[in-house]
Amino acid sequence: MDREPIAVIGVGWVGLVTAACFAELGHEVWARDIVPEKVEALSRGEVPIHEPGLPELVEKNAERLHFTTDMGDVLDHSQLLFVCVDTPPTYSGDADLSRVEAVIGELGESSDHALVMKSTVPVGTGRAIQRRSNGLGYVSNPEFLKEGSAVQDFMHPDRVVVGANSDSDGYADRVAALYEPLDGEIVRTDVASAEMIKLASNAFLATKISFINEIANVSEELGADVREVARGMGLDDRIGPKFLEAGVGFGGSCFPKDVQALKQLAGNTGYHFQLLTAVVEVNELQKRRTISKLQKHLGPLPGKEIALLGVAFKPNTDDVREATSLVLAGRLAGEGASMRAYDPVAGRKAENMLAGARITDSALDAIDGADAVVLVTEWPEFKELDWTGEVKKRMRVPLVVDGRNFLDRDALVAAGFTYEGIGR
Ligand code: UGA
Repeated sequence: MDREPIAVIGVGWVGLVTAACFAELGHEVWARDIVPEKVEALSRGEVPIHEPGLPELVEKNAERLHFTTDMGDVLDHSQLLFVCVDTPPTYSGDADLSRVEAVIGELGESSDHALVMKSTVPVGTGRAIQRRSNGLGYVSNPEFLKEGSAVQDFMHPDRVVVGANSDSDGYADRVAALYEPLDGEIVRTDVASAEMIKLASNAFLATKISFINEIANVSEELGADVREVARGMGLDDRIGPKFLEAGVGFGGSCFPKDVQALKQLAGNTGYHFQLLTAVVEVNELQKRRTISKLQKHLGPLPGKEIALLGVAFKPNTDDVREATSLVLAGRLAGEGASMRAYDPVAGRKAENMLAGARITDSALDAIDGADAVVLVTEWPEFKELDWTGEVKKRMRVPLVVDGRNFLDRDALVAAGFTYEGIGR
């Protein structure tokens, strides 16, 4: 049987992963973006983002992947249009749907195509689109990919959500069929519930992180070790061990935006989502807590040299959106500290975003002569540094603030470092 051809609209991070993975599953994929340079680069096999395994998939499936700027081209070849365009927050915290609207505008009166919405949209968007577009099919198929492991997440999903109202059941069957070769459970539901599953999942994960961060902060005062606490809690099936790592706060393009969007969406109905207000506030305070840890040991920060290890919002990505490093650099600059920062892939990208921090080409260059090292992102290579030898020798003051509880505390303390973790 011929495999269903599919179209991907918007070849950003989600779109490219979706396109490459469907091609890997044997489908012809027409992927459309409005930026000609991006389409040309992709057609040459150049992958513009850092995502493990993605360049290999794009290369391997080059024959099935067709990149184009032409909407007509994709409409001719496929009836299922996977919409993967950005829905960034507006000033009010609502999602900006202008890119989704632009796509719909280009479809005209098509009645033999379906929008398959992967972009994260407010609950109610699908129904509103359907109400005004005659005959256009609509399926909600939110993505749950994590940056840094997106290919793996696509191929081995915990679940796949396919939401449709009765008039689009046929399209929903076809979308569900695409995912049948994968091992995750397929959740069939209505559009609004599918939209809510996405926002509620991200909001719940963000809540889990803010919760453990507060437990960490209290543990510091009371003498408990948050890592032990998380281990003990996580063994309870109802809680689970994941997303209980205390740190310097969550960042990225999804959690901050989606928590805000859900809060705003609730607010628009007149409901004050109190819990999410706290989740956001705890996260903002968490990003800044490092400052008082530095001041505790160094006193006032003017004239002090601080080395930031890690700029990306998490390892294995070059994404710096809402990264803790940016907030921290701003606060450190406000306190008068000088900064040097290093990241294995995101450093140059963040060059002008880090409040006057100098970006270095190696971790040791950042550390040279520093009064303190702050580990912001847990890149594996930071564990491999010669902490007790070269690093210690180069630092003016052997002070480490380990924002991810990532380094070997006992070895550092034994070597004469002052070590500050999170919640220990
Ligand atoms: C998140 C979700 O995990 C995905 O399921 C979802 O598809 C995606 O958002 C999205 O909506 O597109 P992502 O933002 O790529 O994925 O990254 P995560 O791995 O979830 O990490 C988010 C932030 O939480 C990072 O800053 C990370 O350092 C932090 N985090 C995570 C913690 O501080 N503690 C933890 O235990 C886990």
